[in-house]
Amino acid sequence: MLKLINFENYPDMCKKAASIIAAQIIMKENSVLGLATGSTPIGIYELLSEWCAKGDLDFSRIRTVNLDEYCGLSAAHDQSYRYFMNKHLFDNVNIDKVNTHVPNGLAQDAEREGAKYDELIELLGGIDLQLLGIGHNGHIGFNEPSDFFVSGTHCAKLTQETINANVRFFDDLSQVPKTAVTMGMRSIMNARKILLVANGDKKKDIIQKAINGPVTPKVPASILQLHPDVTILYSIA
Ligand code: PGA
Repeated sequence: MLKLINFENYPDMCKKAASIIAAQIIMKENSVLGLATGSTPIGIYELLSEWCAKGDLDFSRIRTVNLDEYCGLSAAHDQSYRYFMNKHLFDNVNIDKVNTHVPNGLAQDAEREGAKYDELIELLGGIDLQLLGIGHNGHIGFNEPSDFFVSGTHCAKLTQETINANVRFFDDLSQVPKTAVTMGMRSIMNARKILLVANGDKKKDIIQKAINGPVTPKVPASILQLHPDVTILYSIA
């Protein structure tokens, strides 16, 4: 089942998203959280960090698995998703970093690395709550529009649209990675709950397509229509 909640502004949306994640942590103190990067989750991670600093949230037994990582960037690179997660969340809460997982963007054998990541998620008992953003082209993680849904964690070739959208974080287009390791649809769809967040006018059409259009790998997020527990938080501004 898919539930859409609209917000007038980004801070209100973040408050709702952070509350849902906080409820999950309170409900199950060793939850496995599937986490996402991008600009949209930043305000959510800020609130979770604040609540943890106040002593209202305890991350000490939380485990996390991130959706994706750029190929070719080390954890120390300031545009790697490991760096992003440390900066925006892990360094600010009482999580044990050993329990935080981000795909390895430097792996030589991407296929083997992907299979290992999927095994890890299974070993952790699967994902309790998966946070997702959505790309302008409907991607979730880096599952780009395609002729088929890819099941396992894999190396994805980024579309030009995604590369263009990501250039804002790099010095110029030549610096933007062209491939990424991303969780596939199986781990995402096996998450017990999914929380998708999006903001801004430019995401309005793709959200509508994902919710009301046909389920098709051309709009990767449309697969969420088949999941039993999806909440979409959308803020227009
Ligand atoms: P954004 O990215 O939050 O920066 O818009 C979302 C995504 O591409 O998944």
